[in-house]
Amino acid sequence: MARILPATTQAIAEAVAALRAGQLVAFPTETVYGLGAAARNAAAVERIYAVKGRPRGHPLIVHLPGPAALGEWAVASELAHALAHRFWPGPLTLVLERSPLVPDVVTGGQETVALRVPRHPVAAALLTAFGDGVAAPSANRFGRISPTRAEHVSAEFEEDLLILDGGPSEVGLESTILDLSGVEKGEGIRLLRPGGVPVAAIEEFTGQRVLLPSDLSAPERAGVPRVSGSLASHYAARAPSELVAPAALIAAAHAGGQRVAVLALQAAPQGFAGEWLQLPSDPVRYAQRLYSALRQLDAGEPTRILIEAVPAGAEWLAVRDRLTRATARGGA
Ligand code: TXA
Ligand code: MG
Repeated sequence: MARILPATTQAIAEAVAALRAGQLVAFPTETVYGLGAAARNAAAVERIYAVKGRPRGHPLIVHLPGPAALGEWAVASELAHALAHRFWPGPLTLVLERSPLVPDVVTGGQETVALRVPRHPVAAALLTAFGDGVAAPSANRFGRISPTRAEHVSAEFEEDLLILDGGPSEVGLESTILDLSGVEKGEGIRLLRPGGVPVAAIEEFTGQRVLLPSDLSAPERAGVPRVSGSLASHYAARAPSELVAPAALIAAAHAGGQRVAVLALQAAPQGFAGEWLQLPSDPVRYAQRLYSALRQLDAGEPTRILIEAVPAGAEWLAVRDRLTRATARGGA
């Protein structure tokens, strides 16, 4: 059974002891909850794949106590150091050439490693007390909705697992992932996953354009390291979900019958009998609530979930990315 503990000093000490003993610990970050193992302990990291049902070869992010540890885990360029000092702690993951100490099981055998320093105080306290890297994917079963609360984590796993409760995640969507591993070869900064740090903030800070997946040619895309969050179908509810244009939403909801659930920006029409959740029209506040809302709708076991399409602006990029994947059929 999973055990949720409020993240007191004592609970954090217990979590550190568990990590040292090679056990898994779920912990809050500002993006989503993570399922952590001591990153240098290959056997412990192996358990993450087993518990999540995650295919091998989908590499994990190593969470560090601070930017000072960067050089230990990766070969870091000046650009990497600059980005780390500007955006860490925070929702930014950097993919860099790995150092020899990183176990293969963490990187999926690739020559790169993903690193991040979370800013959630409980994650920071855990990492500082542990004093080393913690490999952690989002604490959900593979392909499912990422958890933004401790109870979401306990609903995912049957296993005996310590879950530190640090309240709801403030960002609500996973970190932005930048691949810097091709920068020295002149390949530029590549966005692997939009997330908590906007692309515009990276571009403003570096003075460089960030290459979006859509900017790359097919052979270039094939060369980009595997990102499980980039599979077409991911972050999905159990019920079939589809995106619906704002103007078509009310008609689609009525046509769908009682068991249809709706996630919308607009208010429910008078007399709508099914479940209708309205999210804030500000993208940051929408992102905070999205995963929780999808879980809530899914729990009612609707026949379908209709999701109102969000605006086209850059500030909605990460939300649009997750909605597209949450509503994609089949894998890629
Ligand atoms: O916000 C987050 O990033 C959360 C919290 C817990 O930190 N973590 C998270 O982990 O979202 P996960 O495993 O669900 O997603 C990490 C993504 C995966 O899609 C993985 O393939 C990619 O990072 N990744 C990890 N190492 C990589 C590497 N060396 N090259 C390319 N992608 C990598
Ligand atoms: Mg994930």
